Amino acid sequence: MRIFSGIQPTGRKHLGNYIGAIRQYVEGQDRGDPAIYCIVDLHAITVPYQPSELRRAVLDTTAMLLAAGLDPDRCVLFRQGDVHEHTELCWLLTAVTAHGELNRMTQFKEKSARQRELVSAGLFLYPVLQAADVLAYRAHEVPVGEDQRQHVELMREIAIRFNNRFGETLVVPEVRVPEVGARIMDLQAPTDKMSTTASTEQGTLYVLDDEKAITKKIKSAVTDSGSEVRVAADKPGISNLVEVMAVIRGVDNPTIEREFDGQQYGAFKQAVAEAVADFLRPVRERYEELRPDEAGLQQTLAEGAERAQALASATLRDVRHAMGVGGE
Ligand code: AMP
Ligand code: TRP
Repeated sequence: MRIFSGIQPTGRKHLGNYIGAIRQYVEGQDRGDPAIYCIVDLHAITVPYQPSELRRAVLDTTAMLLAAGLDPDRCVLFRQGDVHEHTELCWLLTAVTAHGELNRMTQFKEKSARQRELVSAGLFLYPVLQAADVLAYRAHEVPVGEDQRQHVELMREIAIRFNNRFGETLVVPEVRVPEVGARIMDLQAPTDKMSTTASTEQGTLYVLDDEKAITKKIKSAVTDSGSEVRVAADKPGISNLVEVMAVIRGVDNPTIEREFDGQQYGAFKQAVAEAVADFLRPVRERYEELRPDEAGLQQTLAEGAERAQALASATLRDVRHAMGVGGE
């Protein structure tokens, strides 16, 4: 079983990324043959950015993933921009991608609405590059948070259409979204997802936040005026905290509801703050150890890219052949 996922380069990964995605990457290392994880710098250039910061952010994210438990001996960890097969396959796949499908992508609609100066063509083609990322490795499984489900559905469509048009060449991947924690909400606006770009500072728990910041943010999280600790549609703030607690404890929501039955919100929030701080502390500490060794991080990425390219180039050979592109 081949597993593939991608993550945007930024030093500011939040609890949603950690719970929805990174946790699954770590778990996938033992099932993946191999598990392949890619830091997607080519996706990051679709919105305004600083070139020098991009390189730094890739190293931040590499250190974060290693701190979270990725082990380069048990997975392939690399930078997208080091493996040119991704961009080549992206172009080839545009031949079997409908313009109308891309127009319907929720993330494109949201992100393009937020751009002040330029809605780049790259932002529009973003999901095709994402399809290329996965299809280049003939991956079977794509671990992501809920917000990426639509992109995985599109890549399935693209693979199916490619195989129908040019013959069985690509693997149609399956999405893997965690049962609990696939959509962690903003603490200040619990009907919106926690997000690096759209959320407020106070509403976002960063993996690298210290205990003081974590406690302050959770204690000031928006909750309803009731007093029951339970999951309900009209209690998005408390529901979100119950879910966070359930993930950290490795139990289901009802177990948390029972544990805090009859307790005040204040006491519950205090318990969640302590649990989150304990959960993130070892990651933050390992990150501080790993991040300064830039040569080591570069080396890890270079070795990963070499392994990734060996896999992707074999697929590209088949795709070019099937499509009649280039020489024999
Ligand atoms: P990104 O930082 O946008 O590359 O996202 C990396 C991964 O985190 C993707 O698999 C997303 O689906 C996941 N993710 C992002 N935000 C959240 C959230 N609020 N809750 C759960 N998962 C999330
Ligand atoms: N678009 C994804 C996100 O924003 C990141 C990503 C890029 C990805 N390529 C991928 C995720 C391939 C899964 C598979 O989170």
